[in-house]
Amino acid sequence: MDDAMSFGRLAEEIAREAGDMLLAKRPARPEVVVTKSSPTDIVTALDQASEDLIRARIRAVRPDDAILGEEGGSTGGGRVRWIVDPIDGTVNFLYGVPEWAVSIAVEVDGEVVAGVVNVVPRGEVFTAVKDEGAWLAGERLRCNAGVPLDRALIATGFGYESRRRQVQAEVLAHVLPRVRDIRRGGSAASDLCSVAAGRVDGYYERGPQYWDYAAGGLIAAEAGARVGGLGGKPSNPGLTLCAAPGLFEELHDLLAPLDPERDG
Ligand code: IPD
Repeated sequence: MDDAMSFGRLAEEIAREAGDMLLAKRPARPEVVVTKSSPTDIVTALDQASEDLIRARIRAVRPDDAILGEEGGSTGGGRVRWIVDPIDGTVNFLYGVPEWAVSIAVEVDGEVVAGVVNVVPRGEVFTAVKDEGAWLAGERLRCNAGVPLDRALIATGFGYESRRRQVQAEVLAHVLPRVRDIRRGGSAASDLCSVAAGRVDGYYERGPQYWDYAAGGLIAAEAGARVGGLGGKPSNPGLTLCAAPGLFEELHDLLAPLDPERDG
């Protein structure tokens, strides 16, 4: 089992299982167990349970693969690496806002070849395999093309540290008057799938982590979007941008001069 399709099938099976577990076990108000970079950066007991389940399922079938997970960090080595966000949109999960996801991507030799984002409360499982397309419920996904910036609905997200939020608020003040409107869904993985499905036209965020966008980025790219950073790949703390070609460049040109740590 070493081809991208098989990795995609296994990732989907595991993301569905983790999603089912989370739905079954989610209490009315999940308990916060640790705060991370700031009091707004939270982890619930179920973030950890979800990552434990995902890691155990991967290890049972592929004991030699590396895993990078939001809660458990980096383990193992080798050509194949699994990138895991056990709950993307933890604040939504905590409050019962129905926009959180289990996100799993599979990298071979440093390139993402398969990705799945299970937006659990909506029962939507987005999948993509490199060069084979992106899918939702048997339908091939295509992002919106030909939308100019001033007619674009743009999703964005915010980090947890106040300094980063200050910068993000300043950037938002420049972006909001120039676009149709802004959405802040609360899950970067789901935002990228929304670009893929044409529910928004683009997405940008300064500083999402790799596990936030690894799977969603492939899904958006396979739906025809460009995914990148300022002058290249997404990076942390740099900007991650995603939109159809044309709108991508317009967004890039709007955001590049505003970024205090231009990374390209
Ligand atoms: C967060 C969400 C949010 C984004 C933040 C992420 P988490 O992930 O994706 O939409 O704006 O940058 O950290 O902490 O809920 O896994």
